[in-house]
Amino acid sequence: MKILIVSCSLHPESRSRRLAGELESIWRATGRAEISTLDLRDLELPACDGTSAYGHPDTVKLQGIFKDTDAVVLAVPIYNYDINAAAKNAIELAGRQLTGKVAGFLCSAGGERSYMSVMAVANSLMLDFRTVILPRFVYAGKSDVSDSGELSNEIRERVTQFGEEFLTLAQALQSA
Ligand SMILES: Cc1cc2nc3c(=O)[nH]c(=O)nc-3n(C[C@H](O)[C@H](O)[C@H](O)COP(=O)(O)O)c2cc1C
Repeated sequence: MKILIVSCSLHPESRSRRLAGELESIWRATGRAEISTLDLRDLELPACDGTSAYGHPDTVKLQGIFKDTDAVVLAVPIYNYDINAAAKNAIELAGRQLTGKVAGFLCSAGGERSYMSVMAVANSLMLDFRTVILPRFVYAGKSDVSDSGELSNEIRERVTQFGEEFLTLAQALQSA
C-alpha cells in the first residue's frame, strides 16, 4: 500500500513538518507500507481559479502524485481557525484525486483553542470526494514542539497511535 505524507507548511522551521518527519520515521521503521513524501514548498502551485490553474504543470504534477497514492496524511499549520491557504489550495487543485482514499491530519497550532480547525476541510473532503477521514488527528500546540524541533513525549505517543490507526484503516479499506 502506498501512503503519501504531505507537508503543507511554507514556514522554513515548520512544526507540522516535524510531526510529518516523526510519522515518516515511525512508518519507515515498520516497513508496513510504501511511504513517499511531498513538501508543498517544492511545487509552484498557482492559486486555484477553477479554470486555467488546472492545466499548470505543477498542478498536473500534484494531481499525478495524489492519483498514485492509496492514502494521504496532510501535515498542516492552523491559520485563522482553518488549515493554511497552501493546503486548501492544493486540495482545490487536486483533491478530486483523493476520491475514496483514506486521509488523516497532523496539525500544528500556536495555542490550544483551535482544536477542531481541521473539521471544515475534513467535511469538505468527505462530501466532495468521499474521502475516508481517520477519526483521530494529532494536534500540537507551541509547547509540544520545542524551537529546536524536539517533540514532547505526549505528542510522540500521539503520532505513534495515529500511525497505527491510520495503517489499520487504510489496510482495511484496501482489502474491503
Ligand atoms: C496567519 C496565521 C494565522 C494563525 N492562526 C492561528 C489560529 O487560528 N490558531 C492557532 O492556534 N494558531 C494560529 N497561528 C499559529 C500557527 O498555527 C503556528 O505558528 C503553527 O506552528 C504553524 O504551523 P507550522 O509551524 O507547521 O508552519 C497562526 C499563524 C499565522 C502565521
